[in-house]
Amino acid sequence: MIARELIAVPQYAVDVERGLSSSPKTLPTKLFYDARGSELFEAITELPEYYPTRTELEILREYSAEIARSAGTGLAVVELGAGTAAKTCTLLKAVAARQMRVDYVPVDISRAAVREARDRVRAEVPQSFVRPMVVDFSNGFDFLSSIPGPRLVLYLGSSIGNFDPPAAIEMLEGVRNELAPGDALLLGTDLVKSPEILVPAYDDAQGVTAEFNKNILARLNRELDANFDLDEFRHIACWNASASRVEMHLESVRVQTVDLKLVQSSVEFTAGERIHTENSYKYTIPMVNEMLSASGFSLEKSWFDRKEWFALHLARV
Ligand code: AVI
Repeated sequence: MIARELIAVPQYAVDVERGLSSSPKTLPTKLFYDARGSELFEAITELPEYYPTRTELEILREYSAEIARSAGTGLAVVELGAGTAAKTCTLLKAVAARQMRVDYVPVDISRAAVREARDRVRAEVPQSFVRPMVVDFSNGFDFLSSIPGPRLVLYLGSSIGNFDPPAAIEMLEGVRNELAPGDALLLGTDLVKSPEILVPAYDDAQGVTAEFNKNILARLNRELDANFDLDEFRHIACWNASASRVEMHLESVRVQTVDLKLVQSSVEFTAGERIHTENSYKYTIPMVNEMLSASGFSLEKSWFDRKEWFALHLARV
């Protein structure tokens, strides 16, 4: 009898095959965040060119007391895509100053990240009661109903900007449908600004973002037994003004064929052909207003940094 080895094909393989056989070629953005990709993203947030993280932190440092006052009292704070909650303690301290205790629910797909968030918040905010949740948002937001209100839902970092507009509305609508009157959403969005500032934020001098972008190919080499040569693809970041987004692509430097052995397919590239890997939308206030009202929220107040590069918006159901 011949022993056959059963090799599990990751669920995302169907999306990869579909993306690489479409024109233009695409790859799913969610593939960025394996262990190495998450490490590289952390490094990106500290780059001199990548302003969003420290700019949002500046707003939180300056306005947390005012945000907490506007959000209400007796709040449970739920953070979607919390990661390690590096930015959140400032806001939690301001909420805790107005109530005896603050229930904080960091929600993320990564168990390791929410554990780190829990330990950090417990150490820095003594009035906090932390209940981490490991959730994949593609399964919906019904977990929100298990958290007693009133709730302040945080969605920071302009993560909403990685969704195309219809998907962003669908995501926010999913959150909205689980909320009740008295609950609020605090949404972080990056703002439209000069391409001279935007493009280097996604194409830094040290090449960390290039490595982050190419890591998607390294992942396919490992997990789908593919043979992408990372030196034969060039990292591209560009500003698409009409769509109001920074785009990331990987450009084939020559004619080549790549095999993905695990799914038994081959992909042909012409010289200069690109794989579109990410969109990062940049907003104006009317765009934010439109997105929030299309998903059933009303914008109550926005806070900005001094340069007006980034904004935090408080919205009500
Ligand atoms: C996670 N997200 C908000 C980042 C962004 O700015 O769109 C992802 C990123 N891609 C390249 N650099 C950072």
